[in-house]
Amino acid sequence: MTQFSLSEKPLDLAGIGFGPSNIGLAIALEEQAERSGRALDTAYFDRQVSYSWHGGTLVQQSDLQISFLKDLVTLRNPQSPYSFVNYLHRKERLIDFINIGTFYPCRMEFNDYLCWVASHFSDACRYGTEVVRVEPVADRSGVISMLDVVTRGPDGIERVRRTRSLVVGTGGTPRIPALFAGLKDDPRVFHHADYVRRIATQPCAAGTPMRIALVGGGQSAAEAFIDLNDSFPSVRADMILRSAVLRPADDTPFVNEIFAPAYTDVMFNLPEDERAQLIRDYHNTNYSVVDAELIDRIYGILYRQKVSGVQRHGFLCRRQIEAVASDGAGIALTLRDLSNGVLEEIRYDAVVLATGYERNSHRRLLEPLGDLTGDLRVDRDYRVSTDPKLTAPVFIQGFCEETHGLSDTLLSVLPVRAAEIAAALYRDLAPADGRSRRQSGPTGLVAGALNR
Ligand SMILES: Cc1cc2nc3c(=O)[nH]c(=O)nc-3n(C[C@H](O)[C@H](O)[C@H](O)COP(=O)(O)OP(=O)(O)OC[C@H]3O[C@@H](n4cnc5c(N)ncnc54)[C@H](O)[C@@H]3O)c2cc1C
Ligand SMILES: NC(=O)c1ccc[n+]([C@@H]2O[C@H](COP(=O)([O-])OP(=O)(O)OC[C@H]3O[C@@H](n4cnc5c(N)ncnc54)[C@H](OP(=O)(O)O)[C@@H]3O)[C@@H](O)[C@H]2O)c1
Repeated sequence: MTQFSLSEKPLDLAGIGFGPSNIGLAIALEEQAERSGRALDTAYFDRQVSYSWHGGTLVQQSDLQISFLKDLVTLRNPQSPYSFVNYLHRKERLIDFINIGTFYPCRMEFNDYLCWVASHFSDACRYGTEVVRVEPVADRSGVISMLDVVTRGPDGIERVRRTRSLVVGTGGTPRIPALFAGLKDDPRVFHHADYVRRIATQPCAAGTPMRIALVGGGQSAAEAFIDLNDSFPSVRADMILRSAVLRPADDTPFVNEIFAPAYTDVMFNLPEDERAQLIRDYHNTNYSVVDAELIDRIYGILYRQKVSGVQRHGFLCRRQIEAVASDGAGIALTLRDLSNGVLEEIRYDAVVLATGYERNSHRRLLEPLGDLTGDLRVDRDYRVSTDPKLTAPVFIQGFCEETHGLSDTLLSVLPVRAAEIAAALYRDLAPADGRSRRQSGPTGLVAGALNR
């Protein structure tokens, strides 16, 4: 059942997701409102009941993989009250943090920072509210200057909120390899995105011996391996990866320059084939790679096994999973050794899929807009290029790696991107002369909504 709440005034802006991208946007919009004296009427919808930053992956040993100075604001506005340094100051930990002497706080602390910032915008965020689709609202002449955001709350009822513009910031979706698709309801098989909750329900949490397969060779797999080793002494884990080795993430300073805000222009202005080449060249800064320090720790654990002669964990590299079968006794994986083609079946009690993320949730949400949004190409300001009939601006954050570079899915350029989108929104919805450039009729809604 769908409930329409069209008695409510249309929003100026609906944000889907309230992760770092849209939290960063909320800050940029607040700054813009202060400058212009006009605030946009904005609501953000997030399906999480309360905010957490990849909460299902937050294990003790996990550190931020980027300098804390690349927080939600500092790169754009070091004087912002929403900086990580101000967070430390407010929490009375600034001096202690300095004493640790790191640029890379633990992810639990950065999660707490993000929760702290998000709490300042709690009035604008509807938690526990999943957006299921976005529909066009056409006027008599076929112009679409409004969109309906269809949400579903914990009661399962669909509700509609009308909006004059949209920003999608829904992040990645766990990648489940096709062979495991049939096991999505099996509690013994789960993606790393849900690791913390699901591992706590496994028998090993009560000390029962388990043999666990850990599929993947990226940062997530490495962190899960360390956690299984340190926190679950009854677990024997096999790390199963297609590549020959765990590769280190390249975060050396020259390479790091590709994550600078100025590099977005370089990338965007290149021809398509050269952009694709750059993404391939620098793939090892972010994907299928592991923090070098963590690689040393894993190597050390495996080496000590050799010294002691007690083999607890396995490191199965160059292995392709050929088949998966499950029954009451466990999950059997058939592995092909890519070095010699030999097949081997190994039975596990559980499987953790640290197989990365896909970036396609924006496509599903915007599907009802059909041909109007084409192939979801974006301009430099992250606005989707649409058929001229669709005048309601639609922006996407975190789905523009192909055009804007590898920094797009990370925290790297987030504060600058947020300001670029905020400026574009103000140009469209609240131009300095008080008239909306993209409004399809003299409704006067803009001034009314913005001057509230
Ligand atoms: C485990 C992990 C660790 C990471 N660590 C780092 C790091 O150290 N440094 C770095 O730069 N990057 C890191 N990243 C990359 C990460 O993508 C960014 O840091 C950042 O989270 C991107 O923010 P976002 O808001 O675009 O997406 P997300 O953080 O994924 O937030 C998206 C939000 O949208 C909500 N949502 C999704 N779909 C819907 C829907 N249909 N309706 C309503 N709400 C919805 C989700 O609940 C979520 O709160 C990490 C990624 C992972 C998976
Ligand atoms: N501490 C932190 O800050 C932290 C923690 C975790 C993750 N992250 C970030 O999150 C992002 C994603 O990292 P991630 O490790 O989750 O993903 P990832 O880097 O994309 O790695 C995915 C791994 O899964 C493997 N894989 C994918 N599909 C497979 C299949 N069908 N069969 C077998 N193996 C398969 C890949 O193998 P191939 O290499 O063979 O393709 C790769 O080893 C990165 O930006 C990372 O930095 C950060």
